[in-house]
Amino acid sequence: MELRKGLEDIAIKETSITFIDGELGRLYYRGYSIFDLASFSNFEEVAYLIWYGKLPTRHELEDFKSRLAEERGVSEDITSFVVRTSKQGNPMDILRTAVSMLGLEDRQEGDFIGKAIRITAKIPTIISLIQRSRNNQEFLEPDLSLSHAENFLYMINGTKPNAQDSRVLDVALMLHMDHEMNASTMACLVVASTLSDIYSSVVAGISALKGPLHGGANSEALKQFMEIGSPDNVEKYVMGKLSSGQRLMGFGHRIYKSMDPRAKILKEYATRMAKNEEINRLIEIAMKVEEVGIKVLGRRGIYPNVDFYSGLVFYSLGFEQDLFPTIFASARVIGWTAHIDEYLKDNKLIRPKAIYVGDLGKRYVPIDER
Ligand SMILES: CC(C)(COP(=O)(O)OP(=O)(O)OC[C@H]1O[C@@H](n2cnc3c(N)ncnc32)[C@H](O)[C@@H]1OP(=O)(O)O)[C@@H](O)C(=O)NCCC(=O)NCCS
Repeated sequence: MELRKGLEDIAIKETSITFIDGELGRLYYRGYSIFDLASFSNFEEVAYLIWYGKLPTRHELEDFKSRLAEERGVSEDITSFVVRTSKQGNPMDILRTAVSMLGLEDRQEGDFIGKAIRITAKIPTIISLIQRSRNNQEFLEPDLSLSHAENFLYMINGTKPNAQDSRVLDVALMLHMDHEMNASTMACLVVASTLSDIYSSVVAGISALKGPLHGGANSEALKQFMEIGSPDNVEKYVMGKLSSGQRLMGFGHRIYKSMDPRAKILKEYATRMAKNEEINRLIEIAMKVEEVGIKVLGRRGIYPNVDFYSGLVFYSLGFEQDLFPTIFASARVIGWTAHIDEYLKDNKLIRPKAIYVGDLGKRYVPIDER
């Protein structure tokens, strides 16, 4: 039996959701280039595309938008749980538990995509509740007249966002929606393949996304820029980190061996939306880290990934740093559930093997003789 650490280069299913060309740095959702979707589409339309496999008509889109908006509210139980834990809890732990609670509350049978819509609509409400309640700000009810991204920003900042900010979040969320068989999607499928329920599967996805090698990297990347402090310190910092065997956060990817297209798009938005002195300085630092990092790591196919600029974008929009992985989850839940739906149409229990390298035939020694 061949050992493939990290299941590298192992395909576990066929998919028509996402295609990644890692060599050329291309990404497609349902056959559409991410560059086109980021330029011309929006959160609701791409969510529909990923779940239903086609672009919606105007009527379908309007219907879908209202369905998504109407599901934004969360129960009093969830509200009081989030308020109670927001000051000391890790936001990903709070989100994971809140999604688990959603599962307890949802007694309806069937309609898989309906449940996926419900979870997707409620996650921004939970995230906003975390940020606002730990800062002793009053909780705002979702505004159903706003788009998904507009409402998310409104609930975080307490004011209606301007068109540029909501467009930036809209695009950032689109870019995070799916990425083929990443670690968190795989975690969702492992759970779903046992015929467990959608909430349990999404909880597994959130758990896997939390780690710094996956969705936690966006917050780590921003921390790194803050630690560097000034563009003049970049060279020394990067060289010091790499020569001591540490990793540059927001760099490297299992599939991309060139610049991640999502990082390219986010970089453009990050530079366009520069707002105050702190953000401008952080962007300058990030661009210098990118330059020095590529000089050293580029020849090994290690380039900036989606998390390199996304933290900066989220921070500029008013999200607190430790919330970044939850924003990632708020978009990736669409990919998770689309992959679960696709996988269950031809389900096979996921049960790989391990190669046993321990001893056999050992004599059991009673506890008093050890
Ligand atoms: C994402 C990541 C886990 C993918 O890694 P992977 O496919 O499992 O590859 P490995 O971890 O085996 O790394 C392969 C080699 O590249 C190096 N490498 C990978 N990413 C690196 C980084 N960010 N900085 C420095 N070196 C890196 C490793 O040290 C390793 O070197 P070695 O072969 O000399 O030991 C890895 O690139 C990483 O840790 N990046 C930083 C965290 C991050 O940004 N995560 C977000 C991903 S979207």
